Amino acid sequence: MISQLLLPILGTLLCYVVLHVLQLLYYDLTSPLRSMPGPKAPDDALVADKWRQEFGPNFVFKGLFNVRELHTSDIKAIAHIISRSTVYRKAPFALYTTRRLFGNGTKFRFEGKMRKVMNPAFGPAQIRLMSDVFVDKASQLRDIWDAQITAGNSNPTIEVLSWLRRMTLDVIGEAGFNHQFDGLKEKPNDLNQYKVFDTARTKMFKIGNELVERSKLAASKTAEGGESFSGRRDLLSLLIRANMGTDIPEHQRLTDEEVIGQIPTFFLAGHETTSTASAWALHALSVNREAQTKLREELLTVTSDTPTMDELNNLVYLEWVVRETMRVHSPLVFTGRMAMEDDVLPLSKPYIDPNGGVHNSLPIPKGQLVHIPILAVNTDPEIWGPDAAEFRPERWEHVPEAAKAVPGVWANLLTFFAGPHNCIGFRFTLVEQKALLFTLIRAFEFEMAVPKGGIGRSPTPLQRPVVLGDKEKTSQMPLIVKQVS
Ligand code: HEM
Repeated sequence: MISQLLLPILGTLLCYVVLHVLQLLYYDLTSPLRSMPGPKAPDDALVADKWRQEFGPNFVFKGLFNVRELHTSDIKAIAHIISRSTVYRKAPFALYTTRRLFGNGTKFRFEGKMRKVMNPAFGPAQIRLMSDVFVDKASQLRDIWDAQITAGNSNPTIEVLSWLRRMTLDVIGEAGFNHQFDGLKEKPNDLNQYKVFDTARTKMFKIGNELVERSKLAASKTAEGGESFSGRRDLLSLLIRANMGTDIPEHQRLTDEEVIGQIPTFFLAGHETTSTASAWALHALSVNREAQTKLREELLTVTSDTPTMDELNNLVYLEWVVRETMRVHSPLVFTGRMAMEDDVLPLSKPYIDPNGGVHNSLPIPKGQLVHIPILAVNTDPEIWGPDAAEFRPERWEHVPEAAKAVPGVWANLLTFFAGPHNCIGFRFTLVEQKALLFTLIRAFEFEMAVPKGGIGRSPTPLQRPVVLGDKEKTSQMPLIVKQVS
């Protein structure tokens, strides 16, 4: 019986994959970029940097299914790709994989109407309302670490990444779905650190329907327990409210399945990226102690422990620290696009082919995969100067002229990308990161727990910190944490 059901599904799946692989191979075999030189597979950002030094900003490498991808860190080319968003789209297999992994309706992509319905929920006015959740959860984390240190833990080293993940999990639960995960309340148990997230993830997918029903009930003002919908400001409630609004024509409204499909998207996009970014920020500040002291001095000028979004945004050095973290430690290392039709990619600097031919543009055939190295552009010495790889918040006092051409949605960086599919949650994460740094740096001093240079990056699109030489390759960020005297 099960095999009768599974066979047609597996058969369709197989046909789909085979068809796409054949299509990709065909595009690859007929590509005019076939003769372009390049390395094998620079999918690790560190390796990509090395290849860029050897081949320049444009080269090809063999990626998935051995198909050539064009790697370009040329700003003019990237700006062109972003501006022609109907031509350069996410490859169908990338979207398909996400859907298979995380459930139907999940696209990690907000097409047309979805983005339109969601945009207001991520605007400054809504994020302002959510900022007390960020501060509240950050304060809970501070109190837990404070109690651990006061209890006389002889080893003040804390693996901060897993705690930050618990915190951002609780934030996305409350600010995303009006749901309490209580990740911070779970007992710390080194072996079960990751059980907390697995349980939350499974639970989230299971209760998707229930969450939507609850929010819809509240929206029709018949919520159980007298909860008024107007007081709810989580992303899911906002999405449902916007979707029911009279300004959205019937045909543009999202179906229940589409709404439920957004739950894993928020969940996944909303918590791993922010916890990783904050762990890198604390690491950078433990290496650059001068910056840490300077930041603390600024933060201590605020009299309240519970700042508003506007108070956080008025802190200049905090802004620089966050910018510098997002530049040097951009959590997403690269993204990719596929050309849906033939095109010509303009270049800011000519490409010289192996025969000495000079090209001011590159021919892009339909089906060409393009690899956009976010981190490499953020740390390009030609844009940011010879110390581009260094964490130096002061550089933001004078943004280099060359950086002004970077087509990012925020701070002349590619971290949140740009165009119609830029990161919808960038304001959300920025205020969350600021609330975390505000609360933690005022309370604690952070020192390196492993010698300088001992922390590396995982070779994945989301660059997680790892301790170099750790056989398990577990993502982690151990830091010595001391109470501020
Ligand atoms: C440091 C934190 C974050 C980083 C670095 C980041 C980065 C990005 C990037 C680079 C993209 C574009 C990917 C592409 O088109 O190839 C993106 C898209 C997206 N992000 Fe984020 N993100 C972060 C946090 C968040 C948060 C907190 C949320 C939600 C609560 C979120 C929700 C989304 C969604 C829904 C999209 C798809 C948008 C669309 O297709 O229109 N992100 N993000």
